[in-house]
Amino acid sequence: MVTLITTTAELKQRRSSESSTVGFVPTMGNLHQGHISLLKEALKNDDVVYLSIFVNPKQFGPNEDFNRYPRTLENDINLITEAALDFPNSQVFVYAPKDAQEVFPAGMDQTISVQGLDNILEGKIRPGHFDGVATVVWRLFDLVKPQRAYFGLKDFQQYHVIKQMVKDLALPIKIQGMPIIREKTGLALSSRNQYLTAEQKEASLILYRTLSTIKELIISGKNPQDYMRDALKDPNWNYLVLRDTETFSEDITNSKNISILAVYQMGNTRLLDNMQVEVL
Ligand code: PAJ
Repeated sequence: MVTLITTTAELKQRRSSESSTVGFVPTMGNLHQGHISLLKEALKNDDVVYLSIFVNPKQFGPNEDFNRYPRTLENDINLITEAALDFPNSQVFVYAPKDAQEVFPAGMDQTISVQGLDNILEGKIRPGHFDGVATVVWRLFDLVKPQRAYFGLKDFQQYHVIKQMVKDLALPIKIQGMPIIREKTGLALSSRNQYLTAEQKEASLILYRTLSTIKELIISGKNPQDYMRDALKDPNWNYLVLRDTETFSEDITNSKNISILAVYQMGNTRLLDNMQVEVL
């Protein structure tokens, strides 16, 4: 059963009368099969699942796409209902606050900052972005009070920011990272892919291909640096880097698992992707 909740008062009331284990999937809506994979995992593990749909103004920079970010609630509910059909005993509550004041009422001015991760890579390019993400997720955690929350590894740095926040604030919530869902071509699903023209979509396969090549080079024991230096001659890379998967350190000499993290700029759209490689 899927129930829509549009006010925080209703959400609080519902949560105070519930004792089951609660799983939580925070989203900004315009759902695709990437989001749905998180929902299905939650439905598998938890008695009750909350999924939030909230385009959080705090995580968008002044020149970013807050206003044109796709808002498609009706279609989102249809996708959720379809996914929930496979779990007939389950309960899904969709928290889609009717306005931003529901989430951030007047006078609520706290900002949560996760130091260290907030000013590299995505954080460096999008100043304040991770403060906005951490703040809204902290607030949503406080309202939903889940035992478990699901995040896609597509937003790899975001996943680490949330894990760090939960650790720093000693929140009793397990953070579960979920694999990237891709199109057949390899392009990672993203709500922002719909900004791409057919030509741009075709051209953006360079992202998946480059990450795959670097992964293969590492697996076969070769140093990918020459290949990466050559690839980076294309000015559309915002970044293409290797990091230790656990520590995010640039020093990967003793890494057991390496993450290849990249953003490719396709027109006005930034395409974010990553891959992990186990080093044997
Ligand atoms: P949004 O971009 O809507 O993504 C919601 C969740 O879906 C995130 O955990 C994201 O990593 C995951 N996701 C997106 N595309 C995916 C894909 N192709 N495969 C697997 N998972 C995917 O991320 C946000 O919203 C916001 O920053 C939020 C955490 C909700 C805070 O506002």
